[in-house]
Amino acid sequence: MSRHYDVAAVRKAFPAAEHVVYLDSGFQTPLSRPVKEAYERFLQEGFETAGPKQIWLNRLEETRTKVAAFLGARPNEIAFTKNTSESMNIAANALPLRAGDKVLMIHGDHPNNAYAFLNLRKKGVEIVFIPMTEVVDAESFRPHIDERTRAISMSLVTFHAGHRFDVESVGALCAERSLYFVVDAMQGIGVVPIDAKAMKATFIGSGTHKGLLVPQGLGLLYWDATRTELEPAYLAAASLAEPPLDFVARPDNLALPPTAGRFELGNFNLPAIQGLGAAIDLINQIGIENIQRHCFDLGDYLIERLNGLGVGLVGPRDRQHRAPHIYVIALPAADWLDYFTQNGVRVSPERDGIRVSLGMFNTTADIDRLMEAIRARNAPSARARTAVLSKLG
Ligand SMILES: Cc1ncc(COP(=O)(O)O)c(C=O)c1O
Repeated sequence: MSRHYDVAAVRKAFPAAEHVVYLDSGFQTPLSRPVKEAYERFLQEGFETAGPKQIWLNRLEETRTKVAAFLGARPNEIAFTKNTSESMNIAANALPLRAGDKVLMIHGDHPNNAYAFLNLRKKGVEIVFIPMTEVVDAESFRPHIDERTRAISMSLVTFHAGHRFDVESVGALCAERSLYFVVDAMQGIGVVPIDAKAMKATFIGSGTHKGLLVPQGLGLLYWDATRTELEPAYLAAASLAEPPLDFVARPDNLALPPTAGRFELGNFNLPAIQGLGAAIDLINQIGIENIQRHCFDLGDYLIERLNGLGVGLVGPRDRQHRAPHIYVIALPAADWLDYFTQNGVRVSPERDGIRVSLGMFNTTADIDRLMEAIRARNAPSARARTAVLSKLG
């Protein structure tokens, strides 16, 4: 049931959701029919024609245009990468940072972003971690900025507790203080609407295997194309403004194009890119705002029922500061994960509990089945406690 779209129809596109209570889209979404069909078309074409590469490259450009529109950017600002880690490393190494410069990050944020910047310590760059609080916004970073600070990098949504940080206010602060701003959008993309320009981001990095519904192995990088001073650390023929048509490298012409293609290296993950095109079509048919609203409604429903059971939630509760689709329940993962798996409920273990992560196909019935599982396990001990108490009484 959804107030926002026909979730029963959408659910039919995700057959895996019928076999298991799938509450793990923050890990990887199940394969949907449209994405599978895009892969199958690619395989069939490769099988029958040995690869219509130009057709595939044309589709790649179509997908690039779809990604750009999806992020409020222009196609020349989008590069295809391998995953979030690669995108964050490309971004970190493109910033013109020198020994003594400082980058601000959030303690406990995703390590795939943190390591990309920590690796710059070998150049003498200092990485300063500010505390992770329930709300992180411009005011969280402001007191830590000094004359050596050059950049801020952070997640839009946290994977381990479902914070949705106020990246717009941090982006505005970066613009005010002339800092580069790098955002890891992996855990939010496909559920939380993203407007790269409103975020004032220099770079946004992401993978595509969560909210963007593609199997693992494809990433995205948004680059603010006005930042032409930012150059790639690595180079391939495809990264150049004028790749040599005769395939003989020209040492005298390493000029870069005015596009995010400067950050692309070699051949592409073509089947995944075609899958991404199909996934964005599906998301656009439903509407990203509707997906967000639907997940928020399910989240409210989950929180209400957890309250009823007296089970806590880790991370923010109010809609302003929480992600629509990531909820960490305060049940120790070491005690509960196997139990959920054995009972056909797919969730993830996290630092402080069990992560329930929602997708466009989830319903309140999925939450009910999760709650039944918690109740069933808690019930005997609750009964035992009552028995002990009545004896003591
Ligand atoms: C915030 C965030 N960044 C990055 C990743 C993953 O990085 P990669 O796409 O390189 O595997 C995840 C989860 O897998 C994540 O939640």
